[in-house]
Amino acid sequence: MRFASNMAQIIDGNRIANEVRCEVRLQLEKFVGAGNRVPHLTAIIVGEDPASQTYVEKKIIACKEVGISSETKALPITTTQEELLKLIDELNNDDKVNGLLVQLPLPAGIDERIICNAVSAAKDVDGFNELNIGRLALDMKGIVPATPLGVKTLLERYNINTFGRNAVVIGRSKNVSLPIAILLHSDGRNATKGMDATVTICHRYTPPKELTRVCRQADIIVVAVGKPGLITKDMVKPGACIIDVGISRIPDEATGKFKLVGDVEFDEVREVAGHITPVPGGVGPMTVAMLMKNTLNAAKSQAGCADK
Ligand code: GUN
Repeated sequence: MRFASNMAQIIDGNRIANEVRCEVRLQLEKFVGAGNRVPHLTAIIVGEDPASQTYVEKKIIACKEVGISSETKALPITTTQEELLKLIDELNNDDKVNGLLVQLPLPAGIDERIICNAVSAAKDVDGFNELNIGRLALDMKGIVPATPLGVKTLLERYNINTFGRNAVVIGRSKNVSLPIAILLHSDGRNATKGMDATVTICHRYTPPKELTRVCRQADIIVVAVGKPGLITKDMVKPGACIIDVGISRIPDEATGKFKLVGDVEFDEVREVAGHITPVPGGVGPMTVAMLMKNTLNAAKSQAGCADK
């Protein structure tokens, strides 16, 4: 039997997110104190999906906490792509708006790629625009998506060594898994300060046996699939760092209500891992904190004083 002291160290996303928000607040006070306008974030939400509404509310609360001014444009589900593009164009051309995001998913009939690409790259604080993803892929400075930046920040602040280590990224979404894989494998000497790991990307067509084989060799596992219980104890190398980006809402037998879970069998995996993120309280809070950082940096860049 393993003792509690052999259990993985829990990576506390709430604590690190709080640290990042405090840093943003201090930097913002300095920026505004130097005579610059208070940074402003506009969030667009189309329709009334309760999860999306909650995410946007969290972003607005975080803005208040760090001193960013904000506004939500809530559009009806009947909004057409053309109407949404027109609003984005207006906000792209509004000097008072430093950061602009469109909450995803969008209703059927609206093409998310067209919408993400319509947001001006300079204001694209989600980092979902083709220019920002392209810049990241080419080791150029740009805006890095908030969740991948949050994962990188957690690894850095818990001193997880990535240099030359084996990392596996499970999932191939363009907004989360792909930028995480880019950050993990790219060169630490370039503008985006990559993490120099050896990266394997697995996805739905990776045979389960192969997934297990690759995971068992990994020093770092980042899983972003949305499939509860995907990563089990037998798939984890002792001492590995487990970053769980998955988030699913499932019935809780104990309470009869719903609970949030990740993609990792947390209770058993923490018996072998070296570090592990919980769900909730791991990667989730980092997304909003890094969005605040991206918004401040966008405002700084637009004012001609970027200092990332
Ligand atoms: N939907 C789920 N995650 C995100 C995110 O990080 N940004 C936006 N805009 N929509 C999302």
